[in-house]
Amino acid sequence: MTKPYKAAVIGTGSALPEKRLTNKHLESMVETSDEWIIKRTGIKERRILEDDVPLSVLAAEASRKAIADAGLTPMDIDLIIATTITPDYLSPSLACCVQKEIEAKNAAAFDMNAACTGFVYALQVAQGLITSGTYNYILIIAAEALSRVTDFTDRNTCVLFGDGAGAVVLGKAEEGIASVILGAMGESGSVLTIPCCYFSPEDAEKRNEGKKQVIWMDGSEVFTFASKIMCEASLKVLENSGLTVNDISYIFPHQANIRILQNAAKRLDVPMDKVYTNLENTGNISSASIPVCLDEASRKNLLKKGDKIVMVAFGGGLTYGAALLTWSK
Ligand code: COA
Repeated sequence: MTKPYKAAVIGTGSALPEKRLTNKHLESMVETSDEWIIKRTGIKERRILEDDVPLSVLAAEASRKAIADAGLTPMDIDLIIATTITPDYLSPSLACCVQKEIEAKNAAAFDMNAACTGFVYALQVAQGLITSGTYNYILIIAAEALSRVTDFTDRNTCVLFGDGAGAVVLGKAEEGIASVILGAMGESGSVLTIPCCYFSPEDAEKRNEGKKQVIWMDGSEVFTFASKIMCEASLKVLENSGLTVNDISYIFPHQANIRILQNAAKRLDVPMDKVYTNLENTGNISSASIPVCLDEASRKNLLKKGDKIVMVAFGGGLTYGAALLTWSK
């Protein structure tokens, strides 16, 4: 392609585990109720990866679908970026495990961790590598097995999270990613933590006895941050392209809590029918949330060529980001 080109989403795919964990199940595990969970979060059920299945298998399934949707084969992929906070191994990376599973032998591969904002961060990295001419086709696979780092005796967190994988293939097109903004607030990172190779006395204090590598979260701090940043990041990315919320067909937000999405929609003054949601059936699947939604919307034919969409996320770190994309499939 000699004309100026953009990095565009040319294929999408997703995979959710079969096993469902409903609010009713959770009622038998912690002191909670179906009514409380629905009212305060909007979540009814989440998917759980079976203990004997590596995350890379689920990630590979989503990846194969995205590559087929793009009309490519795994051998066409130049780079795999996996976004995850729950890789099967720290080494080899999830990206390398997926490369092996799908036999994408020509691809370089690495993992990125920007927690729930991981997918938006990966879009920015991939866009740079495509528009610079470094690579033609990049697979982003966002995959999470949050059930493996959830304390199922902590009602503050265990009702929120689930497992799943979403993938996109980026290639070149006349229209595509118009703008991405990213941000981080490391100074507030302690409001949402999952220890890995180091475990401090403060980390121990916050968790139930005997629990180490599990999520701890100050829910209300995260809630306040999220409601504000979702709106600010969306406006900023639109402003970069001289657009307003009236120009967009859909917002694909990180699926954390329906009340956060409602707050953000209200601040943005957009009706909820422009805000894509699936958290009722998936819970929060961290960086996989947005690409799973995108794949669902694409397969339901909700998106038309030329539609402008905003993807916006926030998460541990703290991190946040938004991307404006013109749909070109
Ligand atoms: N079932 C029943 N009661 C629960 C509960 C549950 N699963 N989880 C918490 N509660 C209780 C709390 O213990 C608290 O009780 P108390 O008043 O006796 O102390 C009460 O409900 C209210 O707690 P509060 O924190 O004010 O609830 P909330 O309406 O803010 O909802 C969250 C809590 C966690 C659902 C909400 O804060 C949230 O979604 N935060 C953002 C989380 C997020 O997005 N994380 C991911 C970031 S990527």
